[in-house]
Amino acid sequence: MTRTLPARVFADREDACRTLAGEVAEMIAAINRSGRPAVLGLATGRTPLPFYAELIRRHREDGLSFREVVTFNLDEYLGLAEGHLESYRAFMRRELFDHVDILPGNVHIPDGWLAKSEIPAHCAAYERAIREAGGIDFQLLGIGRTGHIGFNEPGSPRDSRTRVVALDELTRRDAGPSFGGISQVPRQAISMGCGTILEARRIALLAWGEAKAAIVKTALQGQVTDQVSASFLQEHADAAFYLDEAAAGEL
Ligand code: F6R
Repeated sequence: MTRTLPARVFADREDACRTLAGEVAEMIAAINRSGRPAVLGLATGRTPLPFYAELIRRHREDGLSFREVVTFNLDEYLGLAEGHLESYRAFMRRELFDHVDILPGNVHIPDGWLAKSEIPAHCAAYERAIREAGGIDFQLLGIGRTGHIGFNEPGSPRDSRTRVVALDELTRRDAGPSFGGISQVPRQAISMGCGTILEARRIALLAWGEAKAAIVKTALQGQVTDQVSASFLQEHADAAFYLDEAAAGEL
């Protein structure tokens, strides 16, 4: 069933991230009080940077602890040199994990350095690990200009699971500047599927800036279609978009 997917519009991205970080901190505390770790699904890219900065600030100044937090990242590039600065493993350490008290054993990121033959079993084990952790309580998402969530490019089925995906040309072009040119951007990644993401109990999709305004409108107000993975969120019971004014500019 589709419903109106809430769009929460904030003055700027910092304001949005302060609000969301407060909500996530409360959620972690409530779940921890119930006697189990909180399970967070995490995203990379430019969009979540102010959110991670706010989590780090809360850890340093307000005592927000990640000792009872388990994380699963959405995706990882395939074919990068181990330790590459643009790998999502390096990104997560730099932008969040090295600055908070999360236990390394509680962190999960798809492994982009496995031999090809090992990847299907790795993807199945990733899905199993999410299930064994009790499922994802809260999933953080950005959105690509192709409408992707994770790296579920147009054509990704509603029930897709963690697997190898091919990156769309537009996605590779958008990543070009951080890699020093599109030719350096990997062509493939491992990504949680749309089905994996949609099983999270609560989902927040963040988007900032004018460049995201058109795809935000399509995802929120267009048809639910596998041509725009983010449109599947219209069918989720507890998903919301957190937008700055520019990203909400076409609504
Ligand atoms: C990242 C991810 C992607 C990004 C999206 C937006 O883990 O799964 O879906 O969220 O490509 O990227 P940015 O935030 O760099 O615009």
